[in-house]
Amino acid sequence: MVSARTRETPISAIKAMSIRGAQFPDAVSLAWGLPSFRTPAHVRDAVAKALSEDPQSGMYALPAGLPEFRMAAARDFERRSGRAVDPDRDLTITAGNMEGLNTLFHVFLDPGDEVVVTDPGFVSHFHQIRFNGGVPINWPMNEARGWEPEPDVLPELISDKTKAIVLVTPSNPTGRILKEETLRAVARIAKEKGLLVILDDPYSHFTYENRASFFNLAALPEVAESLVYLFTFSKAFAMSGYRVGYMVIPAPLRDAIVKIHDMTMICTPRISQVAAQAALEGPREHLVEFERILARRRDLICERLDALPHLFSYVRPEGAYYVFPKVLGEDDDVGFSHRLLDEAKVTVTPGSAFGPSGVGHVRMAYCVDDSAIEAAFDRLERHFPR
Ligand SMILES: Cc1ncc(COP(=O)(O)O)c(C=O)c1O
Repeated sequence: MVSARTRETPISAIKAMSIRGAQFPDAVSLAWGLPSFRTPAHVRDAVAKALSEDPQSGMYALPAGLPEFRMAAARDFERRSGRAVDPDRDLTITAGNMEGLNTLFHVFLDPGDEVVVTDPGFVSHFHQIRFNGGVPINWPMNEARGWEPEPDVLPELISDKTKAIVLVTPSNPTGRILKEETLRAVARIAKEKGLLVILDDPYSHFTYENRASFFNLAALPEVAESLVYLFTFSKAFAMSGYRVGYMVIPAPLRDAIVKIHDMTMICTPRISQVAAQAALEGPREHLVEFERILARRRDLICERLDALPHLFSYVRPEGAYYVFPKVLGEDDDVGFSHRLLDEAKVTVTPGSAFGPSGVGHVRMAYCVDDSAIEAAFDRLERHFPR
């Protein structure tokens, strides 16, 4: 009953491990990047108020999103990039970055078109590109250089079929904050070759002590005509279940994006748009609090990794909330991850799911409660005594 195209698309390894882990009631999960935080109170209050007072809050909106929310999103983008965009021409509302990216790939890819992605990179990017007829081309992140990709090799990866390059900084799964010089090189090469630059941004609010070295590629005039910038409320505002984000796009793509978004889901749920607008217009103290807690959890997970030098080596993550350790003496990260769940009741994501450079690694998400990190590592220490 299932089409060939669907059969050939594997389920995301992150979800596959999380689904399997859920069958073990006593398993501790570091597999899913789902923050433990509650949605900020001012957002919840705005939702409650809209539900009780606004008779339209349960209704469809037009596909591009509520005009006042688009305006707030345009202001947010300008505040962070210094670039003014027109909320009616350059911006549209998504049901989160996953939906935004799937719609985008659908809109600009013809069969056989190539898209450069980092390796390791975000699992769903590869699947979405393939599902929409494209071919992901891996740009290796170099573990020996702290997971920084090398700009010098980028031109060799670009062919007549290359249409775009996708970046995530801070990176999932490595936690690397890409260097300004790397991002400037990407912008220069993309301009020379006429490529779209796609910036998938769930994590730029989580840069810890490295805020000053975080460089916002969206601010560069070289990419103004070719940038697709996707912001999601899932992580920074703990709104993953609301399914909402915004996308800044080159004007020639916008109507096509809105058309496919409409064909898929008509609109992002109106109440989620109300929630996200309140998120942008309300206080920001929670961001400081989230970052403070995540910084503590990063210290904790790094300390616990340091106590297992016979099992893991790792690069200390600079941002986001993932660490991507190498499992010493083990190439079969899939087998390792399954055995870990079966025998030690700890769920992690196998690194090879993130690309060939992830072979022999696992991804651990430290956005979970401190107690979950402690419990997972107590079990690892018991299972792998020195
Ligand atoms: C790089 C990246 N893109 C997109 C997403 C999904 O974002 P959203 O919840 O907005 O669909 C994630 C979630 O983990 C992610 O890490």
